[in-house]
Amino acid sequence: MSTIQNPSLPKPQIKFLLLEGIAETAVSALSTAGYDNVERLKTALDSDALVAKLNGVRFLGIRSRTKVTDAVLQAQPTLAAVGCFSVGTNQIDSDAARRLGIPVFNAPFSNTRSVAELTIAEIVMLFRRTFPKSSAAHIGKWDKSAVGSSEIRGKTLGIVGYGNIGSQLAVLAEAMGMRVRYLDHTDKLRHGNATPAATLNELLADSDVVSLHVPETDATRNMMDADALRAMKPGSYLINNARGSVVDIDALAAALEDGHLAGAAIDVFPSEPSSNADRFVSRLQGLDNVILTPHVGGSTEEAQERIGEEVARKLIEYSDVGSTVGAVNFPQVQLPSTPSGTRFIQVQRNLPGELGRLNDVFAKHRVNIAAQYYQTDGEIGYVVLDADGSVPNVDTVVQDIRRLSGTIRARVLNRIR
Ligand SMILES: NC(=O)c1ccc[n+]([C@@H]2O[C@H](COP(=O)([O-])OP(=O)(O)OC[C@H]3O[C@@H](n4cnc5c(N)ncnc54)[C@H](O)[C@@H]3O)[C@@H](O)[C@H]2O)c1
Repeated sequence: MSTIQNPSLPKPQIKFLLLEGIAETAVSALSTAGYDNVERLKTALDSDALVAKLNGVRFLGIRSRTKVTDAVLQAQPTLAAVGCFSVGTNQIDSDAARRLGIPVFNAPFSNTRSVAELTIAEIVMLFRRTFPKSSAAHIGKWDKSAVGSSEIRGKTLGIVGYGNIGSQLAVLAEAMGMRVRYLDHTDKLRHGNATPAATLNELLADSDVVSLHVPETDATRNMMDADALRAMKPGSYLINNARGSVVDIDALAAALEDGHLAGAAIDVFPSEPSSNADRFVSRLQGLDNVILTPHVGGSTEEAQERIGEEVARKLIEYSDVGSTVGAVNFPQVQLPSTPSGTRFIQVQRNLPGELGRLNDVFAKHRVNIAAQYYQTDGEIGYVVLDADGSVPNVDTVVQDIRRLSGTIRARVLNRIR
C-alpha cells in the first residue's frame, strides 16, 4: 500500500472493467496491488453498452475487439486510463484519449519471443522440407530422401527489420550456428555477431533465408514485390511473420512456382478471414514447401499471460504512483514509487505559462515542493509534484489546480478528476 498521505480515493473504490476474457494474470496482479474492485466480461461491448458499463469505472481493459471512440471517452469523464491487452492500439482513439488526459497502455513486447521461436522452427522445417514429407506420409507416401534437405548451421539469415522480434530472432539463429545479417532503416545496437547490410538488395542477394519483421508503413507496403523477390538468391526461402501487406502474394506464388524460391512460410496475409468461421483463400495454397499459418505468430499461452501481467502492471503504476512509462499517447514520466510527502498530479494543456500558474497555486497555499517532474508531448503536459510532508489543506489545493483553465485533470495520487 502507498505511504502517501491523503489518497483521495481508497483502492476498494477504484473500479476496473476488464472485457474480452483478459487473462487471469491481470486480475492476480491487480489483486496483489490491492485492487479487488474488478469486473470481468468474456465479451466485447458495442459503443452504447460500453458507455453504460463504464459508469463509475476508472480503468478499462480491452483486447482488440472493443472499439473505444472519442464519443465513448467523452461520455465517461471518470475514466482515468485504458489498458489495451494487445500489441496494437488501433482499437482506441489514442489522440482523443490524450486530449482528454487519458493515457493508453499496451504490451508491445509480450509476444516477441513467441514470433521469434516460430520463425526459428519454420527455418528448420523449410530447409528440411518437413511439411511436404509430412503431408505425403499422411496420405501413405514414404518419401525417404536427403535431396533438397539441409541443416541451417552455417547458412545466412537475412532479417528485414531489426526491432524487438528481428533482434531476438538474430540471437536464437546465431545460437543455431547461422550467420545473421540485417537491414533496418534506423541505426541499431547489434547483438552477437549480426552485421548490417547497406541495402535491401544486398541483403536479399546474400541470404539463404529472408525473414521479414517490419511494421506496416508506406515504405514497407509491397516491399517484397516481384523485383525484390527476384533479387533473392535462387533456391532461398522467404518468411513473413510481420504484416500481410509487406509481400506481393501473386509475385511470391510466381517465384515459388517457377522454382526461383525453394519455399516460404507465411503467417500474415493481405486479406485475412475475420473469424475462424470464415474460409481462408490464398494463391499460395497447394504450393510445394510452403507453410501457411493463420496469423498465430504471437499466439501462445505464455504471451497471453505476459500481456495480462504487463498491462495490469502499467495501470497499477499509473494509479499508485503516476508513472506513464509505456503509454502510447502520453508524455513518458518514470517516478520514484513511494515519495515521503504528498504527490499532486496534473495533466495540463501545453500552453505558455501554464507551469507557472500551477506553481502559483502551491505558492499561494505555502506548499513546499520537494520534487517536480514535467514532460510535454504535443498539446499536453504532464506534471507531478511531490510536496514535503503532509499538506493540511490538500483538498483546497486540488480544487484550485482544477480551476486553472489549462487543467485537463488533477488528482492527489488516486483521486482522478
Ligand atoms: N505474426 C504475428 O502474430 C505477429 C505478432 C507480433 C508482431 N507482429 C508484427 O511483427 C512486426 C515487427 O514487430 P516488432 O515488435 O519487432 O516491431 P519493432 O517496432 O520492434 O521493429 C520493427 C523494426 O522495423 C524497422 N523498420 C521500420 N520500417 C522499416 C523500413 N522501411 N526498412 C527497414 N526497417 C524498417 C524499425 O526501425 C524497427 O527496428 C510488426 O509488423 C508486427 O505487427 C506479428
